[in-house]
Amino acid sequence: AKSEMSPVATAVAAATQTAVSQTLTVLYASQTGNAKGVATQVADAAKAAGIEVVLKNVADYKAKGLKTETHLLIVASTNGEGEPPDDAIEFHEFLNSKKAPKLDNLKYSVLALGDSSYEFFCQTGKDFDLRLAELGATRVADRVDCDVDYDADADAWRVSIVESLKDELTAPAAGLAPVVQLPGTQAPASIYTKQNPYAAELLVSQRITGRDSAKDVRHIEIDLGESGVTYRVGDALGVYFDNDQALVEELLAAVSLTGDETVELQKSGETLSLPIKQALVEQLEITQTPLAFVEFWVQHSGDEQLAEKVVDKNTLREFAANHQVVDVIKAAPTAIEAQLLADNLRKITPRLYSIASSQAEVDEEVHLTIGVVNYSFNDNERVGGASGFLGRRLEEGGQVRVFVEHNDNFRLPENPETPVIMIGPGTGVAPFRAFMQEREANDASGDNWMFFGDQTFTQDFLYQVEWQNYLKSGLLTKMDVAFSRDQAEKVYVQHRLKENAAEVFAWLERGAHLYVCGDANRMAKDVHNALVEIVAEQSGKTAEQAEEYLTTLRKGKRYQKDVY
Ligand code: 2AM
Repeated sequence: AKSEMSPVATAVAAATQTAVSQTLTVLYASQTGNAKGVATQVADAAKAAGIEVVLKNVADYKAKGLKTETHLLIVASTNGEGEPPDDAIEFHEFLNSKKAPKLDNLKYSVLALGDSSYEFFCQTGKDFDLRLAELGATRVADRVDCDVDYDADADAWRVSIVESLKDELTAPAAGLAPVVQLPGTQAPASIYTKQNPYAAELLVSQRITGRDSAKDVRHIEIDLGESGVTYRVGDALGVYFDNDQALVEELLAAVSLTGDETVELQKSGETLSLPIKQALVEQLEITQTPLAFVEFWVQHSGDEQLAEKVVDKNTLREFAANHQVVDVIKAAPTAIEAQLLADNLRKITPRLYSIASSQAEVDEEVHLTIGVVNYSFNDNERVGGASGFLGRRLEEGGQVRVFVEHNDNFRLPENPETPVIMIGPGTGVAPFRAFMQEREANDASGDNWMFFGDQTFTQDFLYQVEWQNYLKSGLLTKMDVAFSRDQAEKVYVQHRLKENAAEVFAWLERGAHLYVCGDANRMAKDVHNALVEIVAEQSGKTAEQAEEYLTTLRKGKRYQKDVY
């Protein structure tokens, strides 16, 4: 590759080799791109400070090279089930194996991304951090565990890292040091991003569950217009939302505020000054309750009954999951100063929805399948933040701020002849509607097998007509459905998988890719266990060997999950 370098680059490289023997390696383990974004920012900041930086997806990193590193940063996300992202499985395994080298000369820091409402919060980052220390490495900064609104914590980590590494790692020529961008890290094509979303028009919001369904699932169509925003099947759409005015009024009343009180919020390094009511509608999260808010409210209200309801981590997590902020407050209503309330709430973070369409079919539109989170609490109907906004409050023709979140961990096979098995009960069906549109548009000849499940056939068969048409045309090779409440005993997708064990295994053996989308807590785990059983039973392997078989599939990107 040397011969391809310009004379200047060669000179810089030579100078850097003599003047600086040390490089900062920044690795990211991303599932949807957040970790990659944070890693890119820290790499850019280090570079601006004159440090030589190598930025890499951990999937493209030779873990054996760790022993020659002197300075390492890892930014790692965690899957819903507490597992590493697909790209990090191999690195995670290596690090935890006996093969991992002593790392006495390594200085490092880990930034972990996660969601504190899950049990295994930031687990992958924690694993890396603890194991590196065990191997003898030294932390240059403590691990930071970031929740869903990670911007401020990530900013603080970046600043402190660059500050502590600057003197050690800069040398005279290093100001010119390049950030090495490896394949897959190219900038997004569109100017619209998470920080700068596109105000799109809502074209269609249509209930696709029956009148008697327990669920309110919406088919949503959004117009990307002239924005130039593009997506690939497997990507997600990030959706911003405003909170419900009536909910905000109810909350204000419970804490004896008028709503006109001015509060200050920090946003992207700036201070916003605005009435608390507007802050609650536009800026602050009130439909998902952080555990920390419940703890704060217990302390602020001094209410013993409330304190007793949340005595340990489990009851606390339960309580936070089942109470919106207003209902936590109403469990022990107490007045509070506007600023103190604002300081104890998180910023609204956009919700990500798996895209349910292919641009090959719908051009500048993007379709979503959204289950409106709704339940009644003390006679009040509570709805989800983004799902309530898009599915209930926003009228067709109204505007919604969106951006595309690329997901290279949920992609159709490159070869159109490769068979695919899709497992997507409930709203997990969304990306598979997109897959079918894409495969139809590309005349892909590979076999397609869909597993769908929901509560009842008559009320909950999402996109039933489309699936039937795909079956009729032959694009869809096979479809198996599991309606859990149409008979006395529960029937789920994993039961259908097991009934078809021989054929499922035969498809895998002839190279099929396997996709799972939907509920992470129960469904994806049960489906995984069913797959282990199927592989073991069909191949004569032990359960452990069957797990390995599936891990090999995952590493080869042949078993991909989009679960939440
Ligand atoms: P249930 O609500 O009747 O138990 C989509 O939400 C479907 O997933 C529903 O039919 C739901 O069934 C089902 N479901 C619930 N738990 C599941 C599990 N552990 N595995 C697979 N499907 C499950």
